[in-house]
Amino acid sequence: MARETTGFRKPINSHDPKELSKMTVTLNSGFEMPMIGLGVFRMDGKVMKDFIIEAIKKGYRHFDCAAKYQNEAELGEAIAEAIERKLVKREELFITTKLWNSDHDHVLEACQDSLKKLRLDYLDLFLIHFPVPTIHTGVGNASSVKDKDGVLDIKTNISLETTWRGMEDLVSRGLVRSIGISNYSLLLTRDCLAYSKIKPAVNQIETHPYFQRESLVKFCQKHGVCVTAHTPLGGSVANVEMFGSVSCLDDPILKVLAEKYKRSAAQIVLRWNIQRNVVIIPKTSKKERLAENLQVFDFELAKEDMELIKTMDRNHRTNIPGKFWGVDIYQ
Ligand SMILES: NC(=O)c1ccc[n+]([C@@H]2O[C@H](COP(=O)([O-])OP(=O)(O)OC[C@H]3O[C@@H](n4cnc5c(N)ncnc54)[C@H](OP(=O)(O)O)[C@@H]3O)[C@@H](O)[C@H]2O)c1
Repeated sequence: MARETTGFRKPINSHDPKELSKMTVTLNSGFEMPMIGLGVFRMDGKVMKDFIIEAIKKGYRHFDCAAKYQNEAELGEAIAEAIERKLVKREELFITTKLWNSDHDHVLEACQDSLKKLRLDYLDLFLIHFPVPTIHTGVGNASSVKDKDGVLDIKTNISLETTWRGMEDLVSRGLVRSIGISNYSLLLTRDCLAYSKIKPAVNQIETHPYFQRESLVKFCQKHGVCVTAHTPLGGSVANVEMFGSVSCLDDPILKVLAEKYKRSAAQIVLRWNIQRNVVIIPKTSKKERLAENLQVFDFELAKEDMELIKTMDRNHRTNIPGKFWGVDIYQ
């Protein structure tokens, strides 16, 4: 279960990789997960090797990938080189990837494919990317087949319990240390807790000041499921462009808090999630932002400012895959 945040409140030298790597939560599997990771969704594979190595040099130890991002091989190449150059040891890294929708009935093969691309012999965390099994079209191609009406072809003959049994089998085989879920609602998480022999260690969900999801976050934490915030910056301009959503980073309340704490709006938002015991995996492709996004352990938001951010909630989801699938999966 996520540890109390008091440990994170003590200011640390947040430029020192050794200090940063101590900022972890203990998962219900017994393994430690760094509170901050680097998300690699929409990261250009061509420039990834140097960028990931730079991130490792700056102190990142946790990387969040997915079969769907189609850049596991590039992340694997970077990790292999960093280990080869003795910048980091495998056991100091925490690598997450995700099972794509079209592979729910091929969990073992999909995991083996991801491991091969990542050049790893185990994953730290493997997540079910969405609770949405779809037509299988071959392992690793992360397809989203649609029917003649342009609607995602969702399978109805495989239960999420069956998918979860496949995930549990990966732990027994030693291929994966921790398993978890992503984009699961409160009720789907409840169901998973009921049928699981190995409890989900993590639920990775979209959450930021415009989409706080207090009930889901609290429910997961109460039952020992660590919450990781995907899209922790509300997707910023990337989601404005891709999904037409609104970015919280331009909100006047954040501007006031940024001024007060002499931090950027992004740092305020990331710090807010940390103080909720929520792990963060912001993505950036800019070297200067790698350091900025890490520098969130050396200040603390006062209680009244946490309360102020609470008032920003708009129940606004910014990552809307249904836009491309012809179906609103969250209805
Ligand atoms: N499980 C899921 O379904 C799911 C869904 C979405 C995302 N994720 C994971 O969560 C990670 C993060 O989500 P995301 O990439 O969608 O969104 P995000 O991290 O909330 O936002 C990324 C956007 O913020 C910008 N940005 C980064 N640092 C910034 C800063 N300090 N100030 C201002 N803007 C900044 C980035 O631009 P630059 O790159 O130009 O800096 C990019 O446009 C993903 O990479 C992925 O690993 C998982």
